[in-house]
Amino acid sequence: MSNTASNNIESVLVENRVFPPSEAMVRQARISGMAAYDALCAEAERDFTGFWGRLGRENVQWDKPFTQVLDESNAPFYQWFADGELNASANCLDKHMGTAVENKTAVIFEADDGTVTKTTYRELLVRVSQFANALKAEGIQKGDRVLIYMPMTLEGVIAMQACARIGATHSVVFGGFSAKALNERIIDAGAVAVITSNFQMRGGKELPLKAIIDEGIAMGGCESIKTVFVYERTKTACNMVASRDKTFAEAIQGQSSDCPPVSVGAEHPLFILYTSGSTGKPKGVQHSTGGYLLWAKLTMDWTFDLKPEDVFWCTADIGWITGHTYVAYGPLAAGATQIIFEGIPTYPNAGRFWQMIERHKCSIFYTAPTAIRSLIKAAEGDAAVHPDRSNLDSLRILGSVGEPINPEAWMWYYKNVGHERCPIVDTFWQTETGGHMMTPLPGATPLVPGSCTLPLPGIMAAIVDETGNDLPNGAGGMLVVKRPWPSMIRTIWNDPERFKKSYFPEEMGGTIYLAGDGAVRSADRGYFRITGRIDDVLNVSGHRMGTMEIESALVAKSDLVAEAAVVGRPDDLTGEAICAFVVLKRSRPTGEEAKQIANELRNWVAKEIGPIAKPKDIRFGDNLPKTRSGKIMRRLLRSIAKGEAITQDTSTLENPAILDQLAEKL
Ligand code: WTA
Repeated sequence: MSNTASNNIESVLVENRVFPPSEAMVRQARISGMAAYDALCAEAERDFTGFWGRLGRENVQWDKPFTQVLDESNAPFYQWFADGELNASANCLDKHMGTAVENKTAVIFEADDGTVTKTTYRELLVRVSQFANALKAEGIQKGDRVLIYMPMTLEGVIAMQACARIGATHSVVFGGFSAKALNERIIDAGAVAVITSNFQMRGGKELPLKAIIDEGIAMGGCESIKTVFVYERTKTACNMVASRDKTFAEAIQGQSSDCPPVSVGAEHPLFILYTSGSTGKPKGVQHSTGGYLLWAKLTMDWTFDLKPEDVFWCTADIGWITGHTYVAYGPLAAGATQIIFEGIPTYPNAGRFWQMIERHKCSIFYTAPTAIRSLIKAAEGDAAVHPDRSNLDSLRILGSVGEPINPEAWMWYYKNVGHERCPIVDTFWQTETGGHMMTPLPGATPLVPGSCTLPLPGIMAAIVDETGNDLPNGAGGMLVVKRPWPSMIRTIWNDPERFKKSYFPEEMGGTIYLAGDGAVRSADRGYFRITGRIDDVLNVSGHRMGTMEIESALVAKSDLVAEAAVVGRPDDLTGEAICAFVVLKRSRPTGEEAKQIANELRNWVAKEIGPIAKPKDIRFGDNLPKTRSGKIMRRLLRSIAKGEAITQDTSTLENPAILDQLAEKL
């Protein structure tokens, strides 16, 4: 399960700064002050199902009301609101018709080149309905899986919403994944259709998407795919297969703008999203409809204290869970106006985010620590892209997600972007949790830089040792959630056994959710701080990657590679960087030749998984350091990757000289 003994996770960071919310912020907040937070927590403790039942009724529009809140009879396959029926798209769009939200701007879309388009809720409903009818016209039905491989555009959200509208289960794959990764996901999900785009625009460059889909399908095993829908993002032509491929324009031609939403059971899979785990094969995380939607909507209200006049901007791509919950579903279910941005934060210059906040009067800004760190560096190097150059007075609340935010970056964000007025909600959660788990509340929680503070009401988070015993504040251990929650992962698609093994270990009784992160609570406030993954998962720029996936990809280059071990090392900009130790089938290369082979391997990994998985460092050795039982000594490799002196006992190594080889940088 873990290769780091939990009691070895030390708390090395002491943070004494505390920033209480302003009185004005407390006064107007939905959860106003710590007493209100405590009262909600107490309600959940006192009557767990009563609490969730109340929230489920208040925040979701049900076609058929549920009579049972939680079914634990088949734990850990928990069911929420199981006999209730609803439609997710109706909860995001139809629900607002006839209200003040109908003609409100739902999406402010800013394209890579700066072109801005605004779409109201009414207009979005029409576009989603037309495209949903186009899906139906191709025979796609409730329960079918549809793979989405789209740029960050309004059309990406329309594709997701259209699937939800007819009860089809979508599986979005991030635009940076390779043909091979697409092929595996199409096969695992048994997808019947693909929704893609001819190209995507990023930083002024036109990058192919459709061509990669074609390549992925051509790799074989994708006979299930009957239709490929192609959004024409640019005018450049792409290859079209006559019997299979349809442009968006062709697909919606003549389609009615009315498409009645299909009622589905609350447990119906709204989507599958593949993510990395400890083994080589990505996991298809399966989410529900009812419980997921409840938490997407409610955390918009609680964490972001959403008000009708807010302009919300989550910068995450729809290819990740953050782009599902806080772009495609949460903001729409909550009736917010949101910004969707196609491009990258550094184009045409590294002031783009700040300029866009000013341009669209953004009031809630939610981004990732890696973006903040790279923009700090840019602003320090060039005053023209400093946030000071933009008017950021519209901002009310800032957010952070994806990895631990280091206190220095936190302070910079707080001062230079929030002008010491805006609380930062450091939201801890995961693909598997569906929505926020631990986060400060803007009108209640005193902030401590680098801490995600406390669990949301109803989330029974704790820190335990390997057998599930609670640890006292100050002691590092494993983060768990002791009771189920509505938006939790339901299973791993096609692999319920792996679901149980990965998240509900028998050693802890088989019903407690193991997050896979180490954490520690502060001695004074009991605030949580995440210390990093305790499994073989890396976090590079907020993107999850399994060391095993990268190792498998390297070893798959079987003409060249005999063995490979991948570890992470700390990196100032990306949080962690990928370091690969490789044994070749031929003799160990040195000098120019080593550099050349390293490049070949990097490109190979990009082809196998995607450019995001390219190792930053590659080192060659005649062998890898192993224990007597043949287990790779990863802890030793981590030290080497960091450039640390080796203090561990290496007497069991067959050939200690390989340590010097592996320490050699190319
Ligand atoms: C990490 C992203 C510290 C953590 C929503 C988790 C964080 C993994 C935070 C999930 C945070 C996410 N503070 N660490 N605020 N948010 N993480 O599935 O290691 O892409 O397990 O979901 O990111 O990454 P995932």
